[in-house]
Amino acid sequence: MNHKLNFNSYPKPETLIGFLIKAVTKENDIVLDYHLGSGTTASTAHKMNRQYIGIEQMDYIETVAVERLKKVIDGEQGGISKAINWKGGGSFTYLELKKYNQTFIEQIEKSKDSKTLLKIWEQMKAKSFLNYNVDIQKQEEHIEEFKKLELSQQKEHLIELLDKNQLYVNLSSMNDKDFEVSNEEKQVTQDFYQIKE
Ligand SMILES: C[S@@+](CC[C@H](N)C(=O)[O-])C[C@H]1O[C@@H](n2cnc3c(N)ncnc32)[C@H](O)[C@@H]1O
Repeated sequence: MNHKLNFNSYPKPETLIGFLIKAVTKENDIVLDYHLGSGTTASTAHKMNRQYIGIEQMDYIETVAVERLKKVIDGEQGGISKAINWKGGGSFTYLELKKYNQTFIEQIEKSKDSKTLLKIWEQMKAKSFLNYNVDIQKQEEHIEEFKKLELSQQKEHLIELLDKNQLYVNLSSMNDKDFEVSNEEKQVTQDFYQIKE
């Protein structure tokens, strides 16, 4: 059996998802898919004149779901298109969460030597959100042991210290100067959540 995920083959799933969307929603209702993947649910909801919210954790959102939805707007004829006489149209907004601890993870992953990792550790102490049980003083006391680890183990250790619930900037921290949220980012966030200053 071939278990490889083929993001290009989606006609049948759209029929199934369309059946379910029709059964439980009406036009303009909001369909939420917090595991967007290849975007079958969003694509089907779009064609069926539902609003939709899709959430995806992986970077391939840019090349897979976003590109697919652009094609849907252009009148793509796969999936349920022929059955519902889809002609294209509509729009969607695509936003990326502002990184916080995730920035440190990316810097750690890219590092080529332990000198760089030690510099990142200095920044982490000052600016990152560490796990509640991390004792900075203890980490410092064991720094010589840390230096003796393999590069991959050092990376693993530093990533382990970061609080994974703080990978992105929380809405409540938007006006905190430390996060350097630009006016444009604030504006788009307020528009998205329909909140006033
Ligand atoms: C099988 S796909 C889902 C297919 C999709 N519902 C559709 O209609 O085409 C699963 C996706 O969920 C994403 N995912 C898993 N856990 C997630 C999380 N906690 N937050 C956001 N996306 C997540 C994975 O990266 C993957 O792309």
